[in-house]
Formats: sequence, C-alpha cells, structure tokens
Amino acid sequence: MALWHFAVLLLVSGTAPTTASMLNSLGCAPEPTSKDQAVRVFYTTSMVPSGCEARGPTNPNLEVHVLNLRYSRSQMSSLLFNVSGGAAKEKCQAVFVVNSNISIFLNIHQEGDCHLSIIHALNTYLSIPLSEDSNKTSLPVSNDQLLTWAKETYGGVSSFAELEDPQQIHFQVAREPSTNEDCILAQDFNTESYLEVEVESHKVETCLDARKTSEKVAHILWLQQSSPDEGMQTVELNVKMVCKDGRSEDEAEIPLTLWLKSHQNMVWKMGQRLSFLQLWPSGKYSLPDFGMHNGMFLPDNKEELIQRARSNSFVVSYTEIPSAKTITLEYDRLCGPAAAVTSPPAQKTLNLTVMVHRFIDLCKPWKCLDSSIEIAVPKIYLAALPARVDEITLKDPSCRAKDNTTHFVLNSILDKCSTQLEGGIHVKNQLILTLPLFPEKVTVPFECDLPEKVSLQLYDTADFHSPSTPVIEANQVTYVEVSFRTAIKQFSLEIGDCFLKTRDNKPQLLFHQGISLSYSVMSLQSPSPKTQRFSFIYKPENELWSIESATLACVVHLNTSNEKRGSYEGSLQVMLKNLNRSHNQGLRIGTVLGIAFGAFLIGVLLTGALWCIYSHTRPITKTQTISTNPSASESSSTNHSLGSTQSTPCSTSSMA
Ligand SMILES: *[C@@H]1O[C@H](CO)[C@@H](O)[C@H](O)[C@H]1NC(C)=O
Ligand SMILES: *[C@@H]1O[C@H](CO)[C@@H](O)[C@H](O)[C@H]1NC(C)=O
Ligand SMILES: *[C@@H]1O[C@H](CO)[C@@H](O)[C@H](O)[C@H]1NC(C)=O
Ligand SMILES: *[C@@H]1O[C@H](CO)[C@@H](O)[C@H](O)[C@H]1NC(C)=O
Ligand SMILES: *[C@@H]1O[C@H](CO)[C@@H](O)[C@H](O)[C@H]1NC(C)=O
Ligand SMILES: *[C@@H]1O[C@H](CO)[C@@H](O)[C@H](O)[C@H]1NC(C)=O
Ligand SMILES: *[C@@H]1O[C@H](CO)[C@@H](O)[C@H](O)[C@H]1NC(C)=O
Repeated sequence: MALWHFAVLLLVSGTAPTTASMLNSLGCAPEPTSKDQAVRVFYTTSMVPSGCEARGPTNPNLEVHVLNLRYSRSQMSSLLFNVSGGAAKEKCQAVFVVNSNISIFLNIHQEGDCHLSIIHALNTYLSIPLSEDSNKTSLPVSNDQLLTWAKETYGGVSSFAELEDPQQIHFQVAREPSTNEDCILAQDFNTESYLEVEVESHKVETCLDARKTSEKVAHILWLQQSSPDEGMQTVELNVKMVCKDGRSEDEAEIPLTLWLKSHQNMVWKMGQRLSFLQLWPSGKYSLPDFGMHNGMFLPDNKEELIQRARSNSFVVSYTEIPSAKTITLEYDRLCGPAAAVTSPPAQKTLNLTVMVHRFIDLCKPWKCLDSSIEIAVPKIYLAALPARVDEITLKDPSCRAKDNTTHFVLNSILDKCSTQLEGGIHVKNQLILTLPLFPEKVTVPFECDLPEKVSLQLYDTADFHSPSTPVIEANQVTYVEVSFRTAIKQFSLEIGDCFLKTRDNKPQLLFHQGISLSYSVMSLQSPSPKTQRFSFIYKPENELWSIESATLACVVHLNTSNEKRGSYEGSLQVMLKNLNRSHNQGLRIGTVLGIAFGAFLIGVLLTGALWCIYSHTRPITKTQTISTNPSASESSSTNHSLGSTQSTPCSTSSMA
C-alpha cells in the first residue's frame, strides 16, 4: 500500500513537465487540497468573525476574556498564545476562557506580570501548566451560550472573540477597559487594539502538478475585506520561496507572478524586492525605495481572475483571504530547469522532521521510572501529524513500542535498548518514528533523570569491597552503605534515623538523629560525603533458630549548598538469620546484656518518641533488589520536583 503510493509519486514526477504543460493548456483549475503543502498562505488579522468588548466584571482589577476557537480541520493543532501587557498596572488579573472545537495544545508565552488564569475546555492542553490557576471544565459550544456562561460565572466579560483557524494569538491585557456596559456580539468585529491572530489559510486552492512545471507560474490572492469609508488601507506582503533544487532565491530563473486582488483603496506594500517577482495588483502598490504606484483593474470574480492570470502564466494557486494586515506566501518550487531535480519526495521529510520534533517535544511521552524507562505515545495525538506513524522504536530497533490500540507503549529496563546512563541517573535514548509515506525515519533524542532514591547496600567486610546479598546473620557484624541517587551535584548526606523492623516486633533502632544507640552500632568513615557507612551487630531477642524477613530502613538528610535540606527515606528488605542452635550460656548472657542495654536506652525514654517517628514514617514496602518501578514519590518524602515526573499533555490520562 505504502509502496504503491510511493511508486505513483515517482511516476507523476517523472512525467511532470509534459503533464503540467498539457494541464495548463487545458486549463488546470486550482482546487482545495490539504495534502499539497507546496503553497502555504499565512496572514495576520484583527478582524474576527464575531466578537464584542465591554467593561468587564464588577471587580475593577479583574479582566475576563473569552476566546472561542474554530478550526476547519479536525486534526489536533498547536496554538501559540502570547499575552503581553500588565507591567504598568499594579494589580492586574486576567482570566481567559478558551474553548475550541478540536483538541489543541495551548503554548502560552507571557510578557509583563499580569496574573493569568486559564479556564479551558477538556480537549485543550496547556504546554506550561499554570498549576492551580488553570482549570479544565466543559464549556458550551456556541458563541451565545459561551458568552452567557462567562457572564454568569464572572459577573461580566471584558471581551469575546470567535477565531477561525488561529495558529498564533497575540493578546494585550491591562488596557483601559471599554465603556460598553454589556458585551453584545457583532459580526466582523474589529479587535485592533488588543488582539491579533495569525492564521494559516486552509482556503488555498492549488493545481497539484503545477509546481513541477518550469514555466512562469502565478499565484492569485484575493483580499476580500471591504473598502474603508475614507482613506487608504495597507497590507504588507511577503513572499518566501524555497527552492527545492537547492538553489538560492536569487538564482531563481523562473519568474513568479502575483495577482493581487483587493478593493481600490488598498496599498499592497511589498516587504522585500525580489528579482524573480512580477506583480499584477489591483489598488495601489509600493516597493521598498521605489515609491507608490497605481495598480490595474482586476475582475471581481474567481473564474475571470484565474482566466486572466492564465493568459501569461501557469496558475499554481488561488487563495481568498477575508481580511489581513500582513500576508505571507510560502512556495516550494523548482527554481531552475526541471532537469536539476533528483528526488522529489525527500523534500517533505525536512518539514516533517521539524513537525515531529516539535510535537514530540511538546508531548514528552517518555518517563524515567526507578529502574526502567517507559514510553507511552497516545495515538490520538499522533493524528495531529500530517502523515501516519507506523512504528516507534528506541535507538535499538529491536525495542519496538507495542500498539495497544490507544497508545504506542514500551517499557525497557535501563541496560537494554542502547539506553545510556550517565552519572547513574541521567538517561539518554532516542525515539525513532517510521512514517510509511516518507523514506527517512524521524529520530527524536530524549533524556530524563531517574527519580531520586535512597539506596541501602549490605557488605560482608569492613573494606566495603564486595556487596553482599541482603542477609543479616545474628551476632555477626553487618556493614551497610547508604547512598542517594540525585541529579544534584554538590551535597552531603547525613544519617537521621535507621531501624530494623521485623514483622511482629517493635523496630530496633540503630540511629536516632544520627547518633548510634547501641555499642554494636558504629559509624564508619565513608570515602565520599555523598554516602554514609556504618556497621552493626544484630542481636536476636531469643536464641531459637529462626529465619525471618525484616526491613532495614534509614531516613537521611541532604545538605546542599543552597541550604535546601531535604529528608528522604530508603529501605531494604532483608532476611534475618539466627542459625545458632547451641543454647549455651555465653550466648544467652551476651544476648540478654544486649537486649538489656538496648532496653535501657530505648525502652524507658525513647519508646514513645520512636513510635512517634515510626508512625510518621510511611510503611515501607519496596526493596532494593526486588523493586518494581515505584514512582519518585514512593522513594522519597520531600517535594523535590523532577523533570521526569512533570505532567505533560501526553501523560494526562483523561483525554478527549
Ligand atoms: C469547527 O467549527 C467550524 C465553524 O463552525 C466548522 O466549520 C468546523 O467544521 C468545526 N470543526 C470541527 C472539527 O467540528
Ligand atoms: C509576543 O508579543 C509581543 C508583543 O506583541 C512581542 O514583542 C513578542 O515577540 C511576542 N512573543 C512571541 C513568542 O511571539
Ligand atoms: C479552579 O477550580 C478550583 C476548584 O474548583 C477553584 O477553587 C479555583 O478558584 C478555580 N480557579 C479559577 C481560576 O477559576
Ligand atoms: C521546510 O523545510 C525547509 C528546508 O529545511 C525549511 O527551511 C523550512 O523552514 C521548512 N518549513 C517549515 C514550515 O517547517
Ligand atoms: C495502552 O497503554 C496506555 C499506557 O500504559 C494505557 O494508559 C492505556 O489504557 C492502554 N490502552 C489499552 C486499550 O489498554
Ligand atoms: C553542610 O555542608 C557544608 C559543606 O558542604 C558544611 O560546611 C556544613 O557544615 C554542612 N551542614 C551541616 C548542618 O552539616
Ligand atoms: C553460636 O554461639 C556461640 C556461643 O555464644 C558463639 O561462640 C558462636 O559464634 C555462635 N555462632 C554463630 C554462627 O552465631
């Protein structure tokens, strides 16, 4: 299927020049297409289909702005939302109610220090969560109902705007409020003083094969806004040509003709002077350093416009634009004779790469778990890409994500799948996406930090050379090293409390606030301030032969240069072995003495405190060796935030 499609592409491009000339002479009619991205038209405008402005809620410091976004395509889209202003005003507080009829990522940029809150629809995801200031709620769909909802919720609104296909929104807050008592919707509303929208037109109609021609080509832009009652209007026009054959714009041999239709009082202001450009404007036009010139008459009708343009060139595209302040036309083309072309389908890969990168970076579908990495890419988000994704792997192509119908999911332990681990905490790998329509795979590198964790390791000997199994034998010295996994570079570790707890007995305290509580517990010299070492002798309460499981747990404090002291808890599941069958006196006396000494210290004065400490310490379930991916919060008890645990749109479980 994919192969077949590819073959057709090659076939078409191979025969392109003849087909194109033939189509031209027959009169290729541009038609709407979402597949062909060779011509893209962007424009900025402040005219919205429906909108209003008013004084706002009764609280004079609060502004409430409602945006109802309408997209003509159902693909998920991302929107840059740029809010500026508010620096001058002392108390600026703005609420944005954002509704959309498709799923969108809202990429918020703020300049100025107005306090922003975003109330958004369930299908809208914020790239920077504004924490407690952003609420998801279900919002009414129609303009009228949404406006009524906002008025009722906030006791008034400052502005309302319906926006079509916005890609970027620039919004000015903290202006003088409008004097209108009530916000009453008007058609074709001008939001000039506070709102500008950048739109990628979805109304570009193209001749699919035209871009492969080496003839003179034409684009038609029809700016349809009506003439002002008096004076002139200006629209700035920029043309960006991407030469598919690797030449620069200046080397373009094939001229480009622009037919610019508008009312007579429009001045088309060219942003740049391009040698390859020929203009046929209605109204007036101006070129840099070249003054203003009168245009010509152009017909008020699509067919006639196309017919007119076709008289001297090959018509590539036709676009109607409702209103604009600036227009940008981007055109991927051959800039020289067609023979220069080598591999046509490769061109799109670059742009696709950019798109996939942006998308994946926004979505961050990876997660560093305790001892593995987890990838979960919701397929609903992949629909936002222009091409289907067939496969996702890690750097090692044998590590392929499974398609569980809703997600591509993969869980890999750290020493597999070419995962790099730096400094015991920093994980690096790549996501490699296969898109069947494009020959090259898209590689997106990623990195994340493993969650912070306190580890306890037992050793047999005082030199701490070889780690031992987690078995503690009665009456023998056990060596313990406590370490802390963190991305923090400079820190020292201090022991707080450590205890040994069997299932039935009270915890046997080894350290309390860093002080050893028994002659058998000894702090040892550690080679680095980032670890702590100690030894102790386990003294069972009776001499009966026994093997039982227990937990060795330590609470440690982190001492960092910025005085941020955190407390963390780590534990190790151990086996306590009391293998001494001989019930001889010496042992008994020794044990009794041990218990008595412990009881003297612990029992009378500290039991209460111990229980207090213990009951404040969460139950310990995980072990070091048998750990099963606990999250960061399970292995530490502070509020250190980690990149890998941040919530992203992709980790949101409730999806539209
Ligand atoms: C969103 O609203 C616009 C305008 O009402 C409509 O043309 C479009 O089809 C809607 N999109 C979806 C995905 O429903
Ligand atoms: C946001 O808008 C301000 C003012 O219009 C502009 O200076 C700034 O560059 C914009 N930021 C982005 C990220 O577009
Ligand atoms: C978000 O919702 C919470 C709980 O419903 C509410 O307390 C808070 O005020 C809301 N925030 C905004 C900005 O509306
Ligand atoms: C398309 O690819 C070209 C070549 O790399 C790049 O310059 C251009 O910015 C891309 N266009 C978009 C919209 O990403
Ligand atoms: C697919 O995996 C994701 C991530 O683990 C999970 O949230 C989702 O429920 C799974 N879907 C199905 C249908 O099992
Ligand atoms: C914290 O560490 C610094 C040096 O890293 C040390 O000077 C200081 O005494 C330590 N603080 C405590 C409370 O141990
Ligand atoms: C058993 O008890 C005897 C007498 O107290 C002691 O000498 C010996 O080391 C113990 N053996 C073990 C394995 O603990």
